[in-house]
Amino acid sequence: MNLNYECVDAGTEYCPCNLALTGDCLTCSRLQGKEFCDCGWNGVCVYNEFVQNGRRTAGPRTAFDASVVSRRKFDDLTVLELAVGRGFAVRASRPGSYVFLRRPDQRECYDVPISVLKTGERKGTIHVAIKELGPKSKALLEDGPSRLEVRGVYGGGLQGVRYLQPGYLRGKRVLFVTKGIGAAPALLTMQRLPEEVRADWIADEEKVGKEFLDVYGQDCPRESVSLAQPEQLAGVRERLKRGGYDVVAVMASDYFVQVICALAGEVLPQARLVWSNNARLCCGEGICGACTETTADGQVIRRCKCQEV
Ligand SMILES: Cc1cc2nc3c(=O)[nH]c(=O)nc-3n(C[C@H](O)[C@H](O)[C@H](O)COP(=O)(O)OP(=O)(O)OC[C@H]3O[C@@H](n4cnc5c(N)ncnc54)[C@H](O)[C@@H]3O)c2cc1C
Ligand code: FES
Repeated sequence: MNLNYECVDAGTEYCPCNLALTGDCLTCSRLQGKEFCDCGWNGVCVYNEFVQNGRRTAGPRTAFDASVVSRRKFDDLTVLELAVGRGFAVRASRPGSYVFLRRPDQRECYDVPISVLKTGERKGTIHVAIKELGPKSKALLEDGPSRLEVRGVYGGGLQGVRYLQPGYLRGKRVLFVTKGIGAAPALLTMQRLPEEVRADWIADEEKVGKEFLDVYGQDCPRESVSLAQPEQLAGVRERLKRGGYDVVAVMASDYFVQVICALAGEVLPQARLVWSNNARLCCGEGICGACTETTADGQVIRRCKCQEV
């Protein structure tokens, strides 16, 4: 693992993962077969956990059958509430959480990553908003299934997710900028912000619609903009200047992530940036290689697992 990145699962209940068995742990140099430790990781020692557990891994996340307890159709989106159990719902309430979903009668190649929009921890449910685009999302919603296969919880739906943890945000100012379904991970995060955090939200309603944002963002005051309009981008620049934010979270397509993050970096160079992980994900475990990317400086990373530090 290069020191510019750390594994989103390191030190969690999903660590050590199966990558430890093949010498491919993203964090631990010992588990990569080296004689020395140069991991730079400050959390629980992955090597120690692996050895103490009798060289066993925490096991991959396995899919389970969940019933659809409610469904609601908005313009362009379908929101499903899935019964997943309380423990799962609690784990899914963390910022950046997503799950893989598919119909029980489909093969695993239909697994589609979908962000957790809301959790009902008492009821043991999660809400997800799905936009029909191609084969996986269409198959998922076809005939209004009463059950779905759920695999998760995965934590790498956002890059820089550590800056949205309640502990980090305490006493800070954060701006959320969302477009389309990027609103889902923002809403999950906003619902759980500590009271002393000052949060503002700028939303482009295109592709998700006002009604969806009104219902799921009813407690989160928002300013509606169209990010595609250059004059509105000037408004975002003004907002950044006035707000003096410590964290700017951009949850949109790669194009808008690039544009808004560049703007934020220019206006508020000290601000921490968080953005959507829009990689093509398949296993989510760092194994299949679907999300592999070579960075500008030649590092090969797995975007499902790697978090920039
Ligand atoms: C971490 C993560 C969280 C996600 N959360 C959600 C979510 O909460 N709800 C949701 O609906 N989707 C979400 N997605 C996106 C969803 O997983 C993809 O859109 C998925 O590719 C859909 O599969 P498909 O087979 O239906 O379409 P595909 O065959 O993958 O795509 C069909 C067509 O749509 C285009 N396309 C694909 N993705 C997008 C996009 N995001 N925006 C615009 N055009 C696109 C493709 O270029 C293609 O032309 C998430 C993705 C990730 C990585
Ligand atoms: S999605 Fe399989 S390695 Fe990242």
